[in-house]
Amino acid sequence: MKALIVFGSNTGSTKEIAETIASKLSDSGIMFDLVDLKKEKSIRPEGYDLVIVGSGIKMGKWTTEALNYLKDHEESLSLLPHAIFVSSGFASEPSRREQSKVDYIDAVLDKHPILKPLSTGLFGGLYDWKRYNFVIKRLVISLLKSMGHTEIDTSKPLDFRDWDMINAWAEELVSSVMEGNQ
Ligand SMILES: Cc1cc2nc3c(=O)[nH]c(=O)nc-3n(C[C@H](O)[C@H](O)[C@H](O)COP(=O)(O)O)c2cc1C
Repeated sequence: MKALIVFGSNTGSTKEIAETIASKLSDSGIMFDLVDLKKEKSIRPEGYDLVIVGSGIKMGKWTTEALNYLKDHEESLSLLPHAIFVSSGFASEPSRREQSKVDYIDAVLDKHPILKPLSTGLFGGLYDWKRYNFVIKRLVISLLKSMGHTEIDTSKPLDFRDWDMINAWAEELVSSVMEGNQ
């Protein structure tokens, strides 16, 4: 059994989530290819037993590469087990979580009605200050303030990813793929 995990990541958060999912697959004896779509766009889904597509969210949008992957391969994806996930700042905010599912998962799937993912993952985000220029830093600070964060320490990354949730999601996904294969 072999899985493909492809991702589009602006500042590395989705990449680390994808790596964590890959490691869970590996623990279950599933071989995998892990592909950063910003570096390699030509990887095709055909021939894999599971394909997972992940994206970071920036200014309300998926990365272009991940979105294009869904668009370019929707037919092939629809014929094999597939799952999608995002890393989003709003996903970790209880008051914004439901809307972020609507905006970043449901809205994307609405554009690809033939896709029926086994599972969708909505994971919190990472704010890695050293990756931002001055303008982006100000923007992220105001984004965090709008979410009710008052004391923002920019001397170290702010990580809102729930690794237990991510690991549990990957484990459940593995179980449903295994069940489907029996
Ligand atoms: C410039 C910028 C804009 C962002 N806009 C949004 C947004 O519109 N909605 C959201 O939920 N999170 C937003 N975020 C938070 C990111 O989704 C979060 O940092 C995520 O972990 C990024 O994943 P990536 O590094 O894999 O791209 C933004 C972050 C940055 C730096």
